[in-house]
Amino acid sequence: MNERQKTWNEYKRLLRYLKPYLGNFTFATLCMILVSITAGAAAYLIQPLLDDIFIKKDRDMLKIVPAALVAMYLFRGVARYVASSLMQKIGQQTVRDIRNHLYSHIQTLSLSFFHRHTTGKLVSRIANDIQLIQDSISIVVYDIFRESFTVVVLLSLLFYRDPKLTVIAITAIPFSAFLVARLGKALKNVTRESQERMADLTSLMHESFSGFRIVQAFGMQKYEISRFKKANEKYFGLILKTIRINEVSSPLMEFFAVIGVAAIIWYGGIQVVEGTYTVGSFFSFLTALFMLFSPISKLSRVYNKIQQSMGAAGRVFEILDTKPEIANAENAKPIGRLSNAVEIKNLNFSYGTEPVLKDISLTVKAGSIVAVVGMSGAGKSTLVDLIARFYDPTSGEILFDGVDIRDATLESVRGQIGIVTQDIFLFNDTLRNNIAYGQDSLPDERIVGAAKAAYADGFIMEMPDGYDSLIGERGVRLSGGQRQRISIARAIFKDPAILILDEATSALDTESELQVQKALQNLMRNRTTFVIAHRLSTILHADRIVVLDKGKIVQEGNHQELMKSGGVYKKVYDLQISANAGNA
Ligand SMILES: Nc1ncnc2c1ncn2[C@@H]1O[C@H](COP(=O)(O)OP(=O)(O)OP(=O)(O)O)[C@@H](O)[C@H]1O
Ligand SMILES: [Mg+2]
Repeated sequence: MNERQKTWNEYKRLLRYLKPYLGNFTFATLCMILVSITAGAAAYLIQPLLDDIFIKKDRDMLKIVPAALVAMYLFRGVARYVASSLMQKIGQQTVRDIRNHLYSHIQTLSLSFFHRHTTGKLVSRIANDIQLIQDSISIVVYDIFRESFTVVVLLSLLFYRDPKLTVIAITAIPFSAFLVARLGKALKNVTRESQERMADLTSLMHESFSGFRIVQAFGMQKYEISRFKKANEKYFGLILKTIRINEVSSPLMEFFAVIGVAAIIWYGGIQVVEGTYTVGSFFSFLTALFMLFSPISKLSRVYNKIQQSMGAAGRVFEILDTKPEIANAENAKPIGRLSNAVEIKNLNFSYGTEPVLKDISLTVKAGSIVAVVGMSGAGKSTLVDLIARFYDPTSGEILFDGVDIRDATLESVRGQIGIVTQDIFLFNDTLRNNIAYGQDSLPDERIVGAAKAAYADGFIMEMPDGYDSLIGERGVRLSGGQRQRISIARAIFKDPAILILDEATSALDTESELQVQKALQNLMRNRTTFVIAHRLSTILHADRIVVLDKGKIVQEGNHQELMKSGGVYKKVYDLQISANAGNA
């Protein structure tokens, strides 16, 4: 498919969003045709104005022409208002729909998609690219229709007055069309690049604002500012280019047009002098020709705008066409709450080409606790991500009560899994909503119960608004231990059958650590737990310890056994666990 075809297909795809509004769209179009006809009528009236009033001194016409003008422009005003406001409304409606569609689609995508795209870039797609599309739909659709009708009406009038003269006048058009096409292409490229630079800017801001603590701690404000300025300067340069290309097209068009006009004045002048034409019909012709300028130059801008927004539309469609890697199989069935066992059979996994997990087999009885231990990069987080089906294994299988989780519905798998991760994420919302995240009903006793079990009720009640206290983005107003306990309360509230726990590597101070440990013990009770363990207390509570090394299970057993046999476990213990052992 060549570039032009692709652009055209993308534009057609955009216009499909207009479908629900076709009724209003047709009505607005009709109003626009009326507006265009009045433009032609105004140019037509020049002839009786000059010939009948000024030259023949006809007194009746002196009354009719001004009255006709007033009536016509009243009518034109109303039609124009209706057409323009309706068209813009339709444009906004479609853009709203595209934005909703894009956001909803992104929500269905898999974790790997979010690894590939930075938050900033995604935000930029939804904000900036859709803004560009908005231009192409609401303004462009309106302009295309209105201006092309006007062109048609005026051209008809010109042909009616004199076909030969008209042909002379519009010979300049193919030249200009070629020029416009070249400019449009250049503009599309510049715009695509400038949108990418805008996405860079958004990414940069997102990073440095969400990591502001690190930025300040390292005294990197100046560095961040210069990084931002550099990116901003690049963007600015591209915008300047856009402006230049945009602004050069109208003057160029006008120049070509005026060559046509000059020819007309010369040729038409001779006709008037020789008496073949009346002054009125010549001026009527000239007026219509002048009136053609504005719609034609607007149409050339429209073409540029379409080129610009097609770049944006292309990027939006690219996301819309991304299929979620993890989705329900065709005949996926819901599975019940885990009652027997989680089995992992001969599982292999890689993110790209490097194998990350190799031939893992593991059976975990429902209700038991497995601690996963290993050096950094061994594949611990990857293993638990596979259990929550954030990824599918490259080969091998994961069974819940004997059912491959790829044959179960995602909702029924994820619905029974609770996850508490290393980097705790809290929403910019009340404590109550953070604890009950994702649940429709918010029974107070259950929220308080969960908070109590997570040892969070105490500090929550000390806050001025209790459970209704708002926490900032990522919970900046809570301490590390408090945030951990909120996330534990969230998991307790969900009451999952399977629990995935990625313990924080660093211990908190003794007091806070003790409370987090007790909260975790409450959380793990009566659940099948996979815990990436760094705390001795967790390891001592585990029914079994699995030691991962470079993607393989190298040791299994309890703490005493593993300490005796040495190997990787002993090394990991000395490096990671003994430091936290004081709190066990
Ligand atoms: N999204 C990803 N894309 C590509 N490679 C990844 C991705 N996530 C992790 N890896 C790689 O997979 C390997 C295992 O990573 P994993 O996060 O599972 O380690 P881990 O045992 O949890 O380490 P840690 O104790 O530091 O959390 C590492 O080599 C890592 O570089
Ligand atoms: Mg990890």
